[in-house]
Amino acid sequence: MDSFAEHVRLGLTAPSKFLSSGYIYDQTGSQIFSEIMDMPEYYPARAERSVFDLFKREIFANLGHPAHLRVLDLGAGDGRKTRILLKEFSTLGCRLEYFPLDISPKSLEVLSREIRAELPEIEIFPLAGSYEDALAEFPSSNLPTLAMFLGSNLGNFSPGKDGEFLQMVRKALQPGDFFLLGVDLKKDPRLIQKAYDDAQGISARFNLNLLTRINRELGGDFDLQNFRHFPVYDPETGVMKSYLLSEKAHLVKIKGLNLEVNFQAWETIHVEYSRKYTAEGVQSVLENAHMRLIRNYSDPQNLFLDALARVNQ
Ligand code: AVJ
Repeated sequence: MDSFAEHVRLGLTAPSKFLSSGYIYDQTGSQIFSEIMDMPEYYPARAERSVFDLFKREIFANLGHPAHLRVLDLGAGDGRKTRILLKEFSTLGCRLEYFPLDISPKSLEVLSREIRAELPEIEIFPLAGSYEDALAEFPSSNLPTLAMFLGSNLGNFSPGKDGEFLQMVRKALQPGDFFLLGVDLKKDPRLIQKAYDDAQGISARFNLNLLTRINRELGGDFDLQNFRHFPVYDPETGVMKSYLLSEKAHLVKIKGLNLEVNFQAWETIHVEYSRKYTAEGVQSVLENAHMRLIRNYSDPQNLFLDALARVNQ
């Protein structure tokens, strides 16, 4: 049985139901996420873009002006932000080998096509799959590597697992390699809340896509009308948790799993973490993964942080 099926069985038979947000990113989910990045409420995408617009040259200088560089882009998505850096590095005379890694083969295909058209001098080696599987495909090399994990994707891990993930990334790198980590910062909770609960309901559509995917791939009969998207932010821990709530008591059948799932009125399915960080928190999570912070870059409003670090010798 495939891992999605296993996961759905595990998550929907647990005493507190859960589904992992990683499974939202099928073709439709990846498309809805691109729409999220264009929403007025979703400040992280804009803020990180402005960090790169402001500091792209300085970032290249802090890499030591390499003549030849490998760029590993973890969870590349549509690669809009990465492109700002690739374009700048290339213009500054750096020869680039670009390794975009993503769970969605369709996103990788679109991204590769666009980069080939816009920056034909860059060599592209797409890696499709989960972080773990695709990282195993990343070849080791004597060339310097810049790995990047942008867009606050780190915040998606359950508390504590973010550190484990960084350890895994560091093991795929060599001492002296660089790591650029983009995280969303703690800020006015109301601003954060709105970014995950937009007026048009795009965020709701994004999380509900998990149920649509279960219906399509596993023969489920989820009626999306019975569920509501409900994000809650805890300013103390910085943890944003998104739930799907069942509005009424009802039964859902998932044929492909031979499973019946009982929902009580207002029962929750936890579907996503979107953790917010402090600069200190980022530094310590990097140090625990045996990386040393070189510099922090932020947008003028201090909404977002891109930390450049180096793998210890
Ligand atoms: C792409 C995982 C960083 O958590 O902010 C956006 C995904 N979910 N709106 C985030 C998301 C709801 C996003 N990440």
